[in-house]
Amino acid sequence: MNVVLFGPPGSGKGTQAQFIVEKYSIPQISTGDMLRAAVKANSPIGVLAKSIMDSGGLVSDDIVLQLVKERVSQVDCFDGFILDGFPRTIPQADSLIVLLDSLDKKIDFVISLEVDDKELILRLSGRRTCPSCGKGYHILYNKPERDGVCNACSSLLVQRDDDSETTVVNRLKVYEQQTSSLKSYFSEMGLLYSISGTGSIDQIQGQISALLDMGGIGDHS
Ligand code: AP5
Ligand code: MG
Repeated sequence: MNVVLFGPPGSGKGTQAQFIVEKYSIPQISTGDMLRAAVKANSPIGVLAKSIMDSGGLVSDDIVLQLVKERVSQVDCFDGFILDGFPRTIPQADSLIVLLDSLDKKIDFVISLEVDDKELILRLSGRRTCPSCGKGYHILYNKPERDGVCNACSSLLVQRDDDSETTVVNRLKVYEQQTSSLKSYFSEMGLLYSISGTGSIDQIQGQISALLDMGGIGDHS
């Protein structure tokens, strides 16, 4: 089962991906996480990506496509994968379809998480992340058991560099201008499933489970 988790910054793609990984035993492929790892490692890709990510813009299609190409070809993706944050432009979507076709794979579901901008800003400003294991939290909505400490590995939680107010505003603008049109792209292909991303994390998990368990019969838009 190959799933694309789609939605604006802060809509819950990473949060819901964690649950899909556990329930369906398929890996998460987050281009944002891969780029942050490249920045941390100071690799050539990381050096190119850092200032773009800090400003809230999109890294070039060629770079992200190269990362995804290498990752989906790995053996743990054989039975499926979750794409989180990719594709984000029409050329990325076109290239993904060609790539999957060459591997004799296809996209089964594009799940679009719908959340309004006011809620997105609240979520991003309160997000905290574990720098060691990547687990995500929120200071109000998804609190760790001990303030500022990861439940899973006890590391001190951090705020992402691109969650500053100015960068968040730009990320939302970039989403509207360059990414949101992919909804009609995937809808025309009959692959888009829109889900309300507002409600508790558990409620949204329930909707995603129902959709994936029923093989896609449901709120198909
Ligand atoms: P990326 O890391 O993909 O960031 P994003 O798409 O902006 O999305 P986020 O990770 O911010 O949000 P999310 O939807 O995962 O929400 P989360 O689950 O954390 O990309 C970062 C940057 O990398 C981009 O800006 C770009 O520069 C570059 N990049 C990445 N991919 C690229 C590509 N394909 N092409 C070009 N450039 C690319 O949830 C947010 C918060 O809300 C958390 O605190 C969480 O606990 C909380 N929360 C989640 N669900 C709920 C709920 N139901 N109720 C209340 N709170 C909730
Ligand atoms: Mg994320």
